[in-house]
Amino acid sequence: MPIYQEYLETLLDKVKQNIGEIAPAIEKAYLNAPRHLFIDAFLDQNPDGEMTEIKVTNDNLEEYLPKLYNDGALCFERNEEGRCISSISQPTLVLMMLQKLDLQEGQKILEIGTASGWNAAMMAQLVGESGAVYSIEILSDLATRTKTKIEQQGIQNIHLFDGDGAIQAYQTSFDRIMFTVGSYDIPQNIYSSLNEEGLLLMVLKNRGPFDSLILFKKTQNYLESIENSICGFVPLQGAYAMKELDGRKLEDWGIWQRLKDKEVIRQDFWWGSNYDKPRINYLKISGICSFLAITEPHFQLFKTEKGAMFFGLLEEEKDSMVIWKDNQLIGYGNEQAFHQIKAAFESYLRLGMPSASCFKVKAYPKGEVIQAQENEWLIQRKDMQFLWSIS
Ligand SMILES: C[S@@+](CC[C@H](N)C(=O)[O-])C[C@H]1O[C@@H](n2cnc3c(N)ncnc32)[C@H](O)[C@@H]1O
Repeated sequence: MPIYQEYLETLLDKVKQNIGEIAPAIEKAYLNAPRHLFIDAFLDQNPDGEMTEIKVTNDNLEEYLPKLYNDGALCFERNEEGRCISSISQPTLVLMMLQKLDLQEGQKILEIGTASGWNAAMMAQLVGESGAVYSIEILSDLATRTKTKIEQQGIQNIHLFDGDGAIQAYQTSFDRIMFTVGSYDIPQNIYSSLNEEGLLLMVLKNRGPFDSLILFKKTQNYLESIENSICGFVPLQGAYAMKELDGRKLEDWGIWQRLKDKEVIRQDFWWGSNYDKPRINYLKISGICSFLAITEPHFQLFKTEKGAMFFGLLEEEKDSMVIWKDNQLIGYGNEQAFHQIKAAFESYLRLGMPSASCFKVKAYPKGEVIQAQENEWLIQRKDMQFLWSIS
């Protein structure tokens, strides 16, 4: 028995505990694509707490098997702020995503974000020799390394591209498209490459703290969500990266510099507890933040140096802002934003405190004229408009 076999099977059991039964074809694909074959290096903390690159070789494989078969993501690359921008995803999440996509023999699949190629290798088995997987990776070095690994394993039906998946001109259309990276928009090339009745598994980012994993079906002139759950992925890079929508420090906003000395109203406002530890803060505000990110165009999430989060509404044109921080709700400039956020809290309670995953979403190309009705919210992006609704 190979030295990794027990790890491979134990991890599968763990995934099943998390998501329930797995389709036999997916289980087979998982067992035929041992995860360690797709990881030649990863970043890990050394005993001094510093991030170092671990190269995995035949000689040290045994030592690292517990990490390679842990049910967690492993980071490959970080940006200058220390944020992970490329990883092999958490096995539970990867297999859950494969279940949702309902892949069939003979289908053509597109994956945005190849990274290790592990997911692509499993999809290649699921669509069989009569099908094909196209996968694109924006980090050139990683794309080249992965290409070598896929060739060495003799996998024939994967076509790997090195480039930006959001602007690539695809020469074919697909039955399924899968994002393994979080994007605020569905780029036009992706939308038009999906066949009618095709499925798009999208990691849709919003201004809130989590991403939404949404399974869309393409029908006539729009995409309609079939399922929606919460997830967290590395952010899309390249032409469709929208860093301006990510949480920033409050001090970086011009409106804060203008209004910070003009406090007009303040009240104690408890959001569930009085702990101020970053992690607890993060969890206690995630529901309301996801809601405000969809329903309030002026919503903003702020991050502190220590990783805590707080939020508010910044109404530039009305010279008004409100922030919720340290269990206080504080209005600046004038009271407009303060009353606006309180009205939003009331709708949140009235609607049963929904998280982002309680919403349905339709995504329309930009040209369509769409009007939001009651309990519907329209969010415009570069190529698509997202109509969120709750009923
Ligand atoms: C979470 S990883 C994907 C995990 C991968 N599916 C696997 O099986 O290992 C996301 C990848 O998307 C890549 N990426 C980010 N923006 C991209 C873009 N615009 N086009 C293609 N790939 C992109 C990142 O470099 C990163 O390697």
